[in-house]
Amino acid sequence: MKDIAASVGTPCYIYSARSIRSAYAAIDAAFAGYPHRIHYALKANSTLAIVRLIRSLGSCADANSGGEVKVAERAGFAPADIVFTGVGKTRDELEYAIARGVGTINAESAGELDRIAAIAHAQGRVAAAALRINPDIDAGSHPNISTGLRSNKFGVPLEDARAIYRERRGLPGLRFAGVHVHIGSQITTEDPIRRAASTLVALALELRDDGFELEHVDLGGGLGIAYEGRPMITPVEYAAAALPELRRLGIPVVLEPGRAIVGHAGALVARIVDTKEFPGGRRFAVLDAGMGELMRPALYGSYHRVVPLAPRPGPERPWDVVGPICESSDVFARDRPLPPLEVEDLVALLDTGAYGSVMASNYLRHQLAPEVLIDDGRWTVVRRRQTMDDVLALET
Ligand code: LLP
Repeated sequence: MKDIAASVGTPCYIYSARSIRSAYAAIDAAFAGYPHRIHYALKANSTLAIVRLIRSLGSCADANSGGEVKVAERAGFAPADIVFTGVGKTRDELEYAIARGVGTINAESAGELDRIAAIAHAQGRVAAAALRINPDIDAGSHPNISTGLRSNKFGVPLEDARAIYRERRGLPGLRFAGVHVHIGSQITTEDPIRRAASTLVALALELRDDGFELEHVDLGGGLGIAYEGRPMITPVEYAAAALPELRRLGIPVVLEPGRAIVGHAGALVARIVDTKEFPGGRRFAVLDAGMGELMRPALYGSYHRVVPLAPRPGPERPWDVVGPICESSDVFARDRPLPPLEVEDLVALLDTGAYGSVMASNYLRHQLAPEVLIDDGRWTVVRRRQTMDDVLALET
């Protein structure tokens, strides 16, 4: 990592292809006994080289915007292998996705189903759709990333779902391919998964009674990863929670994991640009990366391990590791026991492969960090550093 940082500069994201391959294989193997399709959630990391790598493993794609549909296509996915999810799809996005023939559109409301039907009909097509239900299940993760509660904006109330399907039976332009649920991200226990699967399957069985010939159920994403190194639900445990429910139904399951495939595979490498100590108070290490490069700690108070790349000898003491941005939430770690740190030292923020670079911004006119993929002992810059000309290119 030191060599890469010296060559491409800091801050930079560095990814491991081997880590991505093994995480993908673990999920795939956990569901091996049941017909399943993994649709990698591009939102976690949609850098083309990463998406292409995951496609090469046999994955399909989950896109959450028109932009992500286009990235998935650019990475080589056939439209039929893409599910299109997300609250608030615009008319333009729907028209594009339907014209391209995306595999399934996960609809967020009855109104959206009607719009999908009307657009497809006008195009002389039949769109495949699944309705996203809101099962009122607490995913048990941070409130900002829990999505299956009634107080959240996602999906339709469970009790309305059956009527919504029935009322739209035979609607020109629309074919019901499945049912969809996604209760949240960074799920760390089995119970919410079991309950979500059970609810999904119960509804699918009712719809089968009503004569709908569903092709799949979609369990969404959400499998968590261990950021603090504590024991974490494994793909096998996740599958064990869902599979007994799914077996009652017997049709293929679609999974939309993002974080669990790429989260551990990425590190954000940054350089210490300043240190300071307040008498009797805190000790700060200021990095050249901040919430503009990695927003998760500021947004969710999330934990990322901080590792000096060349640890100095000496006692560990509590450090606040912070970014350079003029906001007090621009903090990566508080009171973190770390060895002596000095200006110019390099540190890595671990497990930042998911929801790291994709959520970056140009705040303070920072230029987006480059991204490097290590594969088989070789490394490649898969996204170069943004230049000031790139940043200003859209302006008069
Ligand atoms: N499917 C749907 C419909 C989703 O909304 C999401 C994530 C996924 C799949 C993938 O979930 P995963 O397997 O990655 O948990 N920025 C936040 C996470 C937001 C997740 C939003 N939806 C974070 O940094 O923790």
